[in-house]
Amino acid sequence: MKKDLLDILDLSREDIDTLIRTAENIIADPDAYAEKCRRKKLATLFYEPSTRTRLSFESAMLELGGQVVGFSDAGSSSVAKGESVADTAKTVECFADIIAMRHFKEGAPRVAAQNVSIPVINAGDGGHNHPTQTLADLLTIRREKGRLDHLTVGCCGDLRFGRTVHSLLAAMGRYEGTSFVLISPEELTVPESVRTETLENNGCPYRETRSLEEAMPALDILYMTRVQKERFFNEADYVRLKDSYILTPDKLQNAKKDLAILHPLPRVNEISVAIDDDPRACYFKQVRNGKYIRMALILKLLGVD
Ligand code: CP
Repeated sequence: MKKDLLDILDLSREDIDTLIRTAENIIADPDAYAEKCRRKKLATLFYEPSTRTRLSFESAMLELGGQVVGFSDAGSSSVAKGESVADTAKTVECFADIIAMRHFKEGAPRVAAQNVSIPVINAGDGGHNHPTQTLADLLTIRREKGRLDHLTVGCCGDLRFGRTVHSLLAAMGRYEGTSFVLISPEELTVPESVRTETLENNGCPYRETRSLEEAMPALDILYMTRVQKERFFNEADYVRLKDSYILTPDKLQNAKKDLAILHPLPRVNEISVAIDDDPRACYFKQVRNGKYIRMALILKLLGVD
């Protein structure tokens, strides 16, 4: 495995299998892992807001017996005085054994990784990638469906700016028999680079539609996403597009009985709370799985698994 996790394709399918197996072992016997990271420190450097990713990384390290330093608001650090990502990373390397970084700029975690010898994990960079969310998604799909291949995956919402979708397409596209249904407004279709490099160059079957209802009957996985307000240049466009898709119980009438509904969260309005009690709703299981797979990742990157 590489030193860092910057892109989901830094992991081979075998690496992902290993991480999922370790996460399943942790779930089965957490006590066996409670001291694995004793005397190790994780630095969480979050230049953008987060609830799940930061807290699950921090919980993961604490449950492995390690410790956590870092910032959740770059404005309270020397970033506010103009310090670069490279210098911040080199400084943090003096104190910590591994870094998880979220940044509003695409590629910022890669800059950090190039400047330090400790592992750097991309915890979300701009509209680009979010590989550890994808690991949480893959663990959830494996636990819910028993497999990662031969699935029809519908991705719905903001496919242009939604970094979790870009990483999920890259990861799931490597499994035999995967096909994608991309459900979005015209303005929020996947970027051209994702369409060509991730889908077409790899021969991934996909089709695009504007209608969630039309797509629903074929889906094994429905991956709902939030319209990414923070990536819009124009408030009026956001307001016009934000409620393009709202999943309500009536829209599930033609869905498979064993559909798995995922969402990286936070949700704003795209899944009605009335869905939460439906056994097909998996998004809070996804949150919990995110901690276990991040525990497995920390162990692997620190070489203490
Ligand atoms: N899924 C996700 O990245 O959530 P947060 O922004 O709360 O970390």
